[in-house]
Amino acid sequence: MQQHLIQCIFLASFMKICTGSDWCYESQHTCSSPCNGPEKWEHANKDCAGRAQSPINIVHRKTLPDERLTAFQFKNYQNSFGGLIKNNGHSVQVTLPHDAFVIGGDLEMPYKAVQFHLHWGNKGGPGSEHTIDGEQYPMELHIVHMKEKHSNLEDALKDPSGVAVLGFFYEESNRVNRKYDPIINALQSIRMTGTNTSLGTVSLEQLIPSQQNLTNYYRYRGSLTTPGCTESVIWTVFENPIPLSKEQLEVFSNLQFKDGKPMVATFRPVQPLNGRMVYRSGGAVVLASATLLVASIAMAMGLSQPN
Ligand SMILES: *[C@@H]1O[C@H](CO)[C@@H](O)[C@H](O)[C@H]1NC(C)=O
Ligand SMILES: *[C@@H]1O[C@H](CO)[C@@H](O)[C@H](O)[C@H]1NC(C)=O
Ligand SMILES: [Zn+2]
Repeated sequence: MQQHLIQCIFLASFMKICTGSDWCYESQHTCSSPCNGPEKWEHANKDCAGRAQSPINIVHRKTLPDERLTAFQFKNYQNSFGGLIKNNGHSVQVTLPHDAFVIGGDLEMPYKAVQFHLHWGNKGGPGSEHTIDGEQYPMELHIVHMKEKHSNLEDALKDPSGVAVLGFFYEESNRVNRKYDPIINALQSIRMTGTNTSLGTVSLEQLIPSQQNLTNYYRYRGSLTTPGCTESVIWTVFENPIPLSKEQLEVFSNLQFKDGKPMVATFRPVQPLNGRMVYRSGGAVVLASATLLVASIAMAMGLSQPN
């Protein structure tokens, strides 16, 4: 037993030296095949030990309403694209043509969509990266955007506000979400790490809730949730989840990591806030309804006054 333990420690330190840039999720780490799990990601990149890391647990009552967090405008989100969907060994990722972008939401300039990918649990179990009041959703979508002036993500990450990621939760629904058919169907062709297939026609708009359901969101400054963990990300996490059936959520667990094991629990544990503030949209709405209330009281008084 003790010998086994010593061997394991030996192997673990050996791995650390040999494959410093390699990383894995907690679910992949076993004694017989050790790899650098989240608590060792700083060996892959020292930024992973930084003080403004993502994901985080969002405690709603500690968030600050901010009236500058207005509704986003999603430009060209309705355009369909025929992108490649790829199993990259950590997730499924879709590279996007650079024609879709977002403005508003207190972003200082337009940010164009670069790629999206997902984080999920085991067969529809808890799997989101961000949590709300400690609740972990079954899956989370990250649409990665960068400032228009940057030509690639690498350059954008050198800019402290170069990247904006929009995060969307999923929830289990008793109805099949047909808008997700192209993605769900493609998964069977990319079970193995490194494989890709074409996605068919799909638009970003069909993958996210309708615009009127995207006015409530949280905002904070953080990082990529995989190594290099670069702290250049303006995070937006939307409150309203995307519905998928249990069967649809489960299909993601048929994908495989590089070693052939099921690709499950592909999320980083939540990170300390270290004094960061989390803001929430809705300040303006409160203000507007307060104004409305005052106006209607004034009107009611006006009406009741004899003239
Ligand atoms: C997609 O897969 C093909 C082989 O099927 C390969 O030649 C190509 O490089 C892959 N593309 C990407 C972006 O991984
Ligand atoms: C908006 O959200 C509500 C509540 O979650 C839901 O009932 C409704 O179907 C959504 N509307 C659209 C158009 O997605
Ligand atoms: Zn992500």
